[in-house]
Amino acid sequence: MSEYIERFRTSERVLHWVVTASFFTLLLTGLGLYSRLFHGYFGLFGGGMNAIFIHKISGVIFFFSSIYMYLNHKKDVSSFDEDDKLWIDKSGGYLSRDASHFNIGKYNPGQKLFALCIAAATAVLGVTGVIAWLPLYFPRFIVQVSLMMHSLFFIGSIMFVVVHVYLATIGNPGTIEAMLYGNVRKIWAKKHHPKWYKETTEPQ
Ligand code: HEM
Repeated sequence: MSEYIERFRTSERVLHWVVTASFFTLLLTGLGLYSRLFHGYFGLFGGGMNAIFIHKISGVIFFFSSIYMYLNHKKDVSSFDEDDKLWIDKSGGYLSRDASHFNIGKYNPGQKLFALCIAAATAVLGVTGVIAWLPLYFPRFIVQVSLMMHSLFFIGSIMFVVVHVYLATIGNPGTIEAMLYGNVRKIWAKKHHPKWYKETTEPQ
């Protein structure tokens, strides 16, 4: 019997990596727009004009792929049950030494919150991005507020993504296999997502 269980289909993984690639392209092309300090990054794209062009293209890709990813797993991330509340009360066990075991489904509340925040940030970054792209079509005040919101949500998203990448790699060994190969070890699933493991393996 296999020691692995499927967590993500190929299409789900491809979508996640499209979101990731466009996110980091936006980050690198956007840094130079954010502050003069980072103008050096424009060199990676053959100058400022090219960087802005690539920023716009990757912005469109990120917007649609990220919203699509959210819609795909909306059912799994947008409701919190009693077991999730217990996880929240104990901060997921991250702040204590006792090895707490939570009856968690496909995603824990931290992951759900991350997915919801990224979806909200995608919407705000998309709308404010379009306003910054076409400034002549909007009142000056709206353009200025949009640019400020675009920067704030950009910084917030990076902070969330840094935590996400840490938890999905060295923070929780075995997790990255889910996004690389689509399968995780059963022992990993029983430890981190026991309710999901049970639902997936036992006939209802
Ligand atoms: C190198 C960068 C990244 C790595 C290594 C990574 C890794 C992962 C892994 C392993 C999972 C599956 C977690 C599980 O099965 O429980 C996951 C899920 C997810 N990733 Fe990423 N990811 C990266 C970048 C991103 C970015 C840039 C975004 C969005 C802007 C993102 C959004 C998500 C979402 C919404 C999920 C599902 C919910 C969650 O697990 O939190 N990821 N990622």
